[in-house]
Amino acid sequence: MAASLQSLNLNPLSLKPFHKSSTLTFSKSNSIRCSAATPSKRSYTITLLPGDGIGPEVISVAKDVLLLSGSIEGIKYEFHEKLLGGAALDATGVPLPDETLSVAKESDAVLLGAIGGYKWDKNEKHLKPETGLLQLREGLKVFANLRPATVFPQLVDASTLKREVAEGVDLMVIRELTGGIYFGKPRGFGTNENGEETGYNTEIYAAHEIDRIARFAFEVARKRGGKLCSVDKANVLEASMFWRKRVLALAQEYPDIELSHMYVDNAAMQLIRNPKQFDTVVTNNIFGDILSDEASMITGSIGMLPSASLGDSGPGLFEPIHGSAPDIAGQDKANPFATVLSAAMLLRYGLGEEKAADRIEKAVLDTLNRGFRTADIYSPGTKLVGCKQLGEEILKSVESHIPAGAL
Ligand code: IPM
Ligand code: MG
Repeated sequence: MAASLQSLNLNPLSLKPFHKSSTLTFSKSNSIRCSAATPSKRSYTITLLPGDGIGPEVISVAKDVLLLSGSIEGIKYEFHEKLLGGAALDATGVPLPDETLSVAKESDAVLLGAIGGYKWDKNEKHLKPETGLLQLREGLKVFANLRPATVFPQLVDASTLKREVAEGVDLMVIRELTGGIYFGKPRGFGTNENGEETGYNTEIYAAHEIDRIARFAFEVARKRGGKLCSVDKANVLEASMFWRKRVLALAQEYPDIELSHMYVDNAAMQLIRNPKQFDTVVTNNIFGDILSDEASMITGSIGMLPSASLGDSGPGLFEPIHGSAPDIAGQDKANPFATVLSAAMLLRYGLGEEKAADRIEKAVLDTLNRGFRTADIYSPGTKLVGCKQLGEEILKSVESHIPAGAL
């Protein structure tokens, strides 16, 4: 495989094995359903949630890419497009309609664009688009969020970091997605003993929540570079002290993994100072939210980063990590690469369709090699195109620029 990639002059999306072999086998009963090495069927139901802002534009590109790569690889799709976020609020009055959740639960995988926008920013919490997304993650029980940050050789100069710092970065942030301060209780608004208004949240993790995400991370690290860095704030927060205690206890089962611990403030600094020191990072919900945005900028643009959210069973949720970018929505300026790469993750980790995933990832690299760029990753000497045209170029790469024998 490596030889054929070299002959194509395409770099694999990640040189580390977790991208190449997606089977995660757990030593305990806690098995992650994500990846049958051999797909069990070749016909899948996919829930599409375009959402708001640039969501519909990038989802439309990713859908075409799925369809074309599927037709080449002998995979059939039935797409169900449903409402989420602001679009759902406008149409139904709630950010996650029951129908959306039930259709999503019934499907083989869920592909999401983005949610949110100025229009709904001042809504009460239960009527915010973001609440719909959190309810969806909770409803699908997708506790493990994989956010790879890979610097593509073609985009090194798009990074705000120096070439020698950014070049070769290939790290995976594993974010706990259904617990911690995002969901902890008590939460709300109140009044303190001085009669002053307050707002409060609770950072709380139960043992099983830490154990399952840590186990997931150890397994991923084992398939990548064998290094796991657990990020916490155990010098201050009880929830982090407990997190570290559980991760340390689990480490006994993974003597082959080089485990380190880092406080989140230091991790934020180290990510910019020397990102290549990281291989696999595991952290809680809120630290993962922040660090994954930071890691994305090492790669040049948040518009390049896909994500996969997986649970013990049921469909995975696949989404770009960028938001709805209301400032450029409807202007054909969005970068569809992150959503297309999320579709590749859907195939690889959600459906076990490795070949089709490979084909899409290689098409992305080929499109970059041919010089096509949206504004966020443009540099002089490359070809500036809009979202639609970039989509067409990706389709050309899916179809004709990749010899079948190379896959
Ligand atoms: C993300 C986003 C979401 C989060 C928002 C939109 C609720 O920032 O997926 O990183 O905070 O998880
Ligand atoms: Mg975020």
